[in-house]
This record gives sequence, C-alpha cells and structure tokens, in this order.
Amino acid sequence: MAELSFNGRVVVVTGAGAGLGKSYALLFASRGASVVVNDLGGGRSGDGSSTKAADAVVQEIRSKGGKAVPNYDSVVDGEKIIQTALDNFGRVDVVINNAGILRDRSFARISDNDWNLILDVHLKGAFKVSQAAWPYFRKQNFGRIIVTSSCAGLLGNFGQANYSAAKMALVGLSNTLAIEGRKNNINCNVLVPTAASRLTEDILPPDLYNELKPELIAPVVLWLCHESCNETGSIIESAAGWAAKVQVVRGAGSLLRKSITDIVTPEDVRDKWSAVTDMTNASSPGNIQESTVNLMIRLEGLKNPSNDSKFSEQYSDVF
Ligand code: NAI
Repeated sequence: MAELSFNGRVVVVTGAGAGLGKSYALLFASRGASVVVNDLGGGRSGDGSSTKAADAVVQEIRSKGGKAVPNYDSVVDGEKIIQTALDNFGRVDVVINNAGILRDRSFARISDNDWNLILDVHLKGAFKVSQAAWPYFRKQNFGRIIVTSSCAGLLGNFGQANYSAAKMALVGLSNTLAIEGRKNNINCNVLVPTAASRLTEDILPPDLYNELKPELIAPVVLWLCHESCNETGSIIESAAGWAAKVQVVRGAGSLLRKSITDIVTPEDVRDKWSAVTDMTNASSPGNIQESTVNLMIRLEGLKNPSNDSKFSEQYSDVF
C-alpha cells in the first residue's frame, strides 16, 4: 500500500517546540505537510515565554527540506495561531492540540491561579484553536482535530486535580466535536500518550523513561489525521510503540423497583448495590441515542413487566 502523504495539507501543532509536539511536527513535515510550529516557549509550569523552542524546530524542518513557520502565541489566542497558517500557507487542514503545562499540588493546596492556568492552557486553548479552524474545515469539507488527554484525566492521579479535570474535559469536547463535525468530514479524536519529555522526566522511572520515545507515538497521530482514516469520536491511548482504543463502559445495571408505581428507597439501592456495580456484562453505550433507548426499554419494562424480555430482545444490539 502507498505511503501516507500529507502533500498539500497544512497542519497546526501547538506546543511543537519540544516533546511530543516536536515529534509530530517533524513527522508531518517529512510527509509533505506545511507545518505551523506553535510554541509559547515558557517554563514547565506556564511561566515566561521565548521564541527559541519554535524557531529551533522550524529550523530543523527547513534544514531537511520541509515547510514550516513558527508561531509564538499562547494557545488561548487560538485565532492568531490559525491566522499564521492562513497567512503563510493559505489554508488549514489539521489541528493538533498538544500544548501543555503542569501545576501539580495536592487538592487542598491548589490556588485559583493553579486552577485557572491549567484549565486555560489545556481546555480553553483547545477550544480557541479548534474553533478558529472550524469554519475553514466546514467550508472545505475536511478537517482533522486531535486533543491530548492523559491517564491522569481518565483515571485520576494524586496531586493533579486541576490537570485531571482539564484532561477529562477535553474528552467531552472531542466527543461533541466529532458529532458536530461528522457531516463535514471533520474528525476529532483524543490521544492519551505516555512519553519521555520535560513533563515526565522527574515522574517516570529512568528505565521506563528511556523507552518512551515521543517518536513512537507520532505515527499514531499522523494516521488519525490522514484523509483515509475514518476514526472519529474515539480515545486512543499510545506509548512505547503500542496503541489501543479506550471506551467508557456501563454495566448492565439493575432495576431498583418492581413496577412503575413503586418508589425507590435508599434500602432498595443498598440491597441492589452489587447488581448496580456488577461490570460482568458491561458494554459501551456508543452514543446518547442508544443511552436514551436503553432508558426507554427500562421504563417500558417497569410499565409492562410481561413485555420486558420482548423489548430487550428487540433492542439487543443496544446492550
Ligand atoms: P513538553 O513540556 O515537552 O511540551 C509541551 C510544550 O507546550 C512546551 O514546548 C511548551 O512550551 C508548550 N506550551 C505550554 N504552554 C503553552 C501555551 N500556552 N501556548 C503554546 N505552547 C505552550 O510536554 P509533553 O510531554 O510533550 O506534553 C505534550 C502534551 O501531552 C501535553 O498536553 C501533556 O499534558 C500531554 N501529556 C503528556 C504525557 C507524557 O507522558 N509526556 C502524558 C499525558 C499527557
């Protein structure tokens, strides 16, 4: 099969001056894309700014014969970053929301500033950059968006309440962008990476750190952003040359009352708790319509207990 080419495509990578973003920018450029290398160039916790990081990556891409321009704005000024793509390359096809910082504190110690800065860079930044590109994506009937989440968002992590909240919020953002973008061939997916970078150098054990090269994740991002990839609305976890889809699942659950006329007492909940939390037959609801149908089936079962199994059979594909 042919190599995956990005000839003629314009790709914006935020936070592309280092770590994961840098490896994405280099790989996209090597596959023919024109790349906007955005990086504020500040410290790990969001302090300061510099043009050095973005300039160095642009230099590296150009020295290899690729096309790239720098942008030094913060992602919260997303429209300026997209304008850089339009001014230099006349279009925008792909947005990789990757820029990130950390302000780790145990929950009781998180200041308003720690909270706001993390939410701004991760969540508002992805909102602003993606929204600025959106009208161009719609007009050209093509667009690819990646948002970057984290295991700390999906699973939680001590000392990262602000970061976890922002990272899980990005999953919600991506889910809805995937739905709203579908009719215009705009795909949006969540990447959950684990990679060696300045964000993880003092967190990951050295043996593991050395194996977690960002270059092993970049190909996953390129595939997700290619015109021939139809994946959308998904969460993809990747590290060390491995990738997997992650889903939200729901257990089969349990009715808490016998008929539509019964009330539910706290004791009913207590007595059914092991069935409520049993994940043996868990499945992914897929979308909100399926979730609503499931609710209707349960209600119908309560109204007409004799029809319960008939209904469940009719909608068996929902479970
Ligand atoms: P990194 O620190 O090497 O790179 C992040 C880049 O974003 C830096 O160059 C920084 O200057 C830039 N940046 C920060 N704030 C910015 C802003 N307001 N506007 C523009 N650029 C800004 O970190 P790494 O590890 O490459 O992280 C990339 C993304 O992956 C982040 O969103 C991070 O939260 C996420 N992530 C990384 C993991 C890992 O294992 N490295 C794990 C899970 C998520």
